Amino acid sequence: MLNYSDLQRITDYIRTKTDFTPKVGLTLGSGLGGFSKKITKVAEIPYSEIPGFPVSTVEGHNGSFIFGYIGKNKLPIIAMNGRVHYYEGYSMSDVVAPVRSMGLLGAEIVILTNAAGGINLDFEPGNLMMIKDIISVFVPNPLVGPNIDNLGTRFPDMSKIFSHRLQVKLKDVANAYGIRLKEGVYAQCTGPSFETPAEIKMLRALGADAVGMSTACEAIAARHMGLEVCGVSCVSNMAAGILDQPLTHAEVQETADKVSGDFETLVLGLCERL
Ligand code: HPA
Repeated sequence: MLNYSDLQRITDYIRTKTDFTPKVGLTLGSGLGGFSKKITKVAEIPYSEIPGFPVSTVEGHNGSFIFGYIGKNKLPIIAMNGRVHYYEGYSMSDVVAPVRSMGLLGAEIVILTNAAGGINLDFEPGNLMMIKDIISVFVPNPLVGPNIDNLGTRFPDMSKIFSHRLQVKLKDVANAYGIRLKEGVYAQCTGPSFETPAEIKMLRALGADAVGMSTACEAIAARHMGLEVCGVSCVSNMAAGILDQPLTHAEVQETADKVSGDFETLVLGLCERL
């Protein structure tokens, strides 16, 4: 379990490589991998170089922190190019270490992105969904364990995880560029198996619109430390049991790649309004 001195060791190491102070932290989920090319790079640090840092084992999630400027406004940003997932065997405190590190390095805002299965029957693969709230009770809470008082309080409020201010901006961007932006609740499951049709029915009954294997824990950790949080899912497939076809990681990747243009436009547009 990562504690505060582990986090300090991580940020101290990063500070030996760059003194760059980001305003925004961004996770590059599936479909946003190409976004890193839009960043005027100042520094890049492979996760594998950072002492005690969790390193992803998933194909297509090569890991590094990218520091640089984005957009016409030259917004200082740190991007997580790859993330680790709970299903890889890491503890939840390891899983959220990258997001916490972005906050400790100076980010005041985090933009969380992911690919997710669509539960809401009005959704279609390729839709982008603004995350309005999360259901995280099916995975361990990332704040379990001794509270890190330097980050936040023991019992943090989660009634407004996602910033209204950022949601308004995101909708403005979507309108400005003619991007259809769905809205909904994101539920996190552990994976790595996709959910069963019965689980998807259950999640729908509970109010979930999309399901994935990341992000809810990151949102909680970010909010715990007082960061302003925004989240967008790319609906890469309809969740289990909705269509008469098996779910594959290839489908997730393929759809995410197809909508990467709109996804990048949306996130870039948001950055330009920050
Ligand atoms: N379930 C869980 N995680 C996912 C899915 C899904 O259907 N699609 C993309 N990530």
